[in-house]
Amino acid sequence: MTYKVILPAAGSGKRMGAGKNKLLLELEGVPILIHTLKVFADDEDCEAIILAVNPQDEKEFTDLINKHHIKKSVSMVPGGSERQHSIYNALKTIKTDGIILVHDAARPFIKKEHILRLTGVTEENGAAIIGVPAKDTMKKVMGGTVTETVERSSLWAVHTPQAFRISLLHQAYEKAERDSFLGTDDASLVERLGHPVAMVEGDYDNIKITTPEDLFFAEAILKKRLKGV
Ligand code: CTP
Ligand code: MG
Repeated sequence: MTYKVILPAAGSGKRMGAGKNKLLLELEGVPILIHTLKVFADDEDCEAIILAVNPQDEKEFTDLINKHHIKKSVSMVPGGSERQHSIYNALKTIKTDGIILVHDAARPFIKKEHILRLTGVTEENGAAIIGVPAKDTMKKVMGGTVTETVERSSLWAVHTPQAFRISLLHQAYEKAERDSFLGTDDASLVERLGHPVAMVEGDYDNIKITTPEDLFFAEAILKKRLKGV
């Protein structure tokens, strides 16, 4: 199943505290941005890559893409102040229908097998996201006191990619803009249309590199991958 992918990459990496976009940090000598781009550049089902970029990073990103010989052309759009705005800027450039994936550039460990399952379910269902069952016991806390233990069996941690029929995602973003709704993921915008979103089970390796300790986890995952585990 062919698809296009939007990679939001226009954050500033505040929680990483590196003083620059965290996507420029290296894992085994290769920037996080390039690790993620390679997954899609090497996937024959991926027909377009749209990267949302902070204008101040554009030159450095372009140089890296050239230096690392990314096989596919990557179109860049300017990022916005929030992740959702960055994605909308990219979505507005897509005029055809089909399947779109939205994937955080900060998640370099997404596997082809999971992309295949997502696009397959999206073809049937219109919307599918990837996630993993929650491992920890979850509680609601108000003002430092537990108010409720939430039933864990129905809780999932949500990752990206999130995949949608393009026309459906356009509708979802148009409604969010009309309502000034800012969601924490793309699926929440589609859920507001009343459209069902399917959950595909991914794996716990698909971490988002967010804080400095994630770099150690990421190096470990990469070493495990290189050993073929
Ligand atoms: N992102 C984006 N535009 C924004 C904010 C975030 O394109 N205005 C992108 C990031 O570059 C990242 C993805 O969305 O690939 C997930 O965001 P997050 O992990 O929060 O990254 P940052 O926003 O860069 O980090 P922080 O929140 O710590 O500043
Ligand atoms: Mg952020």
